[in-house]
Amino acid sequence: MSVRLNPSILSADFANFADEFESISNCDAIHVDVMDNHFVPNLTFGYPVVKRLQEISTRPLDVHLMIENVDEWAPKYAALGVFSVTFHHEAAQDSVETAKRIREVGSRAGLAIKPGTRFEDVAGILEHFDQLLVMTVEPGFGGQSLIESTLQKVSEARAHLDSTDLRIWLQVDGGIDEENIERIAALGADTFVAGSAVFKAQDRRAQINTLRALAEKGHSHFH
Ligand code: DX5
Ligand code: ZN
Repeated sequence: MSVRLNPSILSADFANFADEFESISNCDAIHVDVMDNHFVPNLTFGYPVVKRLQEISTRPLDVHLMIENVDEWAPKYAALGVFSVTFHHEAAQDSVETAKRIREVGSRAGLAIKPGTRFEDVAGILEHFDQLLVMTVEPGFGGQSLIESTLQKVSEARAHLDSTDLRIWLQVDGGIDEENIERIAALGADTFVAGSAVFKAQDRRAQINTLRALAEKGHSHFH
């Protein structure tokens, strides 16, 4: 499979995760936004909730940590057995060491950068990661509009990954919808997070298929 579509449960009903998970059961992975009201001005849920989500989920969990003290916490989330743990370079003391500790316990390590962080700040350490997350909105809230200027970094990252033969996934998160996903895939992104675009749909499974098909189309133009 060339592209992946990961719904963000930030837009789900927090009192009914079991049914919400069932409604998106054809997704590639479930994107789980952990926020601590320090790194971002919003609070969602933390370790004990993600532990339960991992126990009930039939799909892999793609955990996105928007928290401080991530060097300490990221390996603990990884040890829950989740598929991937992505943390913010801006929040880490030692991104490479934290990635190593995530991988040691068998999770994929992801590195996220906010809109204001340059790609060149992380280009040199990507060999320690399995995925790069280019945030396409300021992290903190669902339902925001995509910041167009962040897409330059998607192109930059794709060019760098191809020229260095680094086969890591290139993820985008924030404001992704049926209007823009094909165009962003054509820039070289291959893993797409979509919160409101999935959860607002009447038929979420159909919407996941639609978004994935559009992304495949954009991606095929690219290669
Ligand atoms: C934003 C989160 C995103 C968010 C995406 O801080 O990291 O995962 O849920 O939601 P939409 O797709 O609605 O922008
Ligand atoms: Zn996210």
